[in-house]
Formats: sequence, structure tokens, C-alpha cells
Amino acid sequence: MARKKISIIGSGNVGATAAHWAASKNLGDVVLLDIVEGLPQGKALDFFQASAIEGFDSDIIGTNNYADTANSDVVIITSGLARKPGMSRDDLLSANTKIVRDVTEKVCAQSPKAVLIVVSNPLDAMVYVAWKVSGFETHRVLGQAGVLDTARFKAFLARAIGCSVADIQAMLLGGHGDDMVPLVRYSSVSGIPVNQLLGKDELDRIVERTRKGGGEIVNLLKTGSAYYAPSAASVQMAEAIIRDRRRILPCAGYCQKEYGIGGHFVGVPCLLGSRGLEKVIELELTADEAQAFATSVQHVKELVAAVDKMM
Ligand code: 2OP
Repeated sequence: MARKKISIIGSGNVGATAAHWAASKNLGDVVLLDIVEGLPQGKALDFFQASAIEGFDSDIIGTNNYADTANSDVVIITSGLARKPGMSRDDLLSANTKIVRDVTEKVCAQSPKAVLIVVSNPLDAMVYVAWKVSGFETHRVLGQAGVLDTARFKAFLARAIGCSVADIQAMLLGGHGDDMVPLVRYSSVSGIPVNQLLGKDELDRIVERTRKGGGEIVNLLKTGSAYYAPSAASVQMAEAIIRDRRRILPCAGYCQKEYGIGGHFVGVPCLLGSRGLEKVIELELTADEAQAFATSVQHVKELVAAVDKMM
């Protein structure tokens, strides 16, 4: 059977690190694309040479030409500006709408059957842009945010409990902004609800740190934003799709009647398989959880309304 093909658009920190995770998992052949001449070629060549040490079989090429991405199974779109200290993700809206629109047109012309995973910010609005421009069915367009946000949540929980992060399960809803909704009630360690292991104050602090997790890293790096966890998160989604693992992961997925959203991409538990988004899982929410989710969804709808005026 021919190997699967994953194209990664943008070979900055997120794109190049995603290529690293994807090839290390032998997910398929990887194409790394950027508009900067030499950058994707240099990174791809360097990384390809590492295959001799690490022993992965994936071929990896770097290119400035979209024709090289033709017939990809999955395309991860990382293009766009990253925020700097003092900026919110929403401050990137105008610049990244233009970039994601342009990139998506070129990607879809080459790979009309691909599943798109969008990583660019502000995430929930950029998934919408990619979907609109692609004309793809809603199940073939997803946004990466919840896997990253729950990774932060899980890592903080594991450190506070003093246990392996491998035993933590966590869920989160809403947009990829500071009003995202980490769900303590749906988070556990080997089946034990986390609120039996940590007190309310500590859980509140962890929820707050998770919500602001991206900004914490921007403030430390000063010249850009996080990339190890965002890229690993994107590749976990790609793996679920490419290997038809039917994993249930929090992603920005299209919700029409689900949760009464009415046609927007928002962070919800998504069953991912070879078609992309196979199913949105609806959770029962308390009044407080539902209210927090509604606030976050309202923010996403406002961003999308702003994007619509630019398109
Ligand atoms: C983050 O949360 C870059 O939005 C990304 O780190």
C-alpha cells in the first residue's frame, strides 16, 4: 500500500516541528512548504538526514511549489503571523485571514480530497476561513486547539497530583481563547475524578493557567508563540485520521445542531477517523458549564462575523 502523504504549510517553528513529529511516527511522506525560498528545503534536507540516525522511513521534502503537495491525504495549515507579548490571538485576525485564504485556495487546488487541519490563529475564525474557501464538506475541515489546550490542562494536573500524565484524561470545550472551558467534571486520573485528588482552589488555579497557557509562553519567548505542544497536537489529530483510529479528541469541529451552535466551528469532543470529523460527541453540561461555553461560543461568533466582512 502506498504511503500516506501529509503536507505542512508554513515551515516556521510549528510547521517544522510538526514535520518532525509526523515523520518520527512514520505517518507517511511529508512535504514541508513555505513561501521563503530555501527555508523548507533546508529544514527538510536536514531532517531527512536525521532519518539515518532515528530510523524513520518517511520521505521528507521542502518546497515553495504547491504542485509538490498534490494529492495529500492530510494538510496541516500553520501559515500566518504568531502573536508577540501584549497581543491577543484576535489581533492577528486581519493579517492571517488574508494568508489563510490564499494558502487554502492553493492547497485545495492540489489536494481536493484532503482533510484540512488548521492551526493558524485566531484559530476558530481561521478554520472558518479555510472551510469557506475550500468548499469542502464540513467533516473534512478541523481546527487544532483542544488537543493543545487539554495537553496543558493534563500536564498541569499531573504535576500538581504528582502522577504520570499518561494516566490523566481531560476534556475542554469552546474557542481557543482565554475564555475556553476546561471541564474539571470530565477530567480524571485512571478513572478517579480529579476533584477527589485536588482541592477547589488548586483546580481553579490550574483551569486559569490552562486558559492563559498560550500567553504565558508568548511572554516567556518574547519573539513568538508556543510550538512543541501545538505541533504535537496537530500530528495527534493527523494520526487519528490517517490511521483511522477513531480517537475522541477535543478539536474545533463544525457544529450545526450539536450543542445548538447553528453552524460554527468550535471546540467540542470530536471522533476522528479516515473521513476526518466522524462525529461530534455531545456532553451533558451543568448550568455553569453551559454558561461558560455559551460565552466562549459567542466570542467565536463575533470573530467569524468580523472575518465575514473581510471575505
Ligand atoms: C498557543 O496557544 C499558539 O495559540 C497557540 O500556544
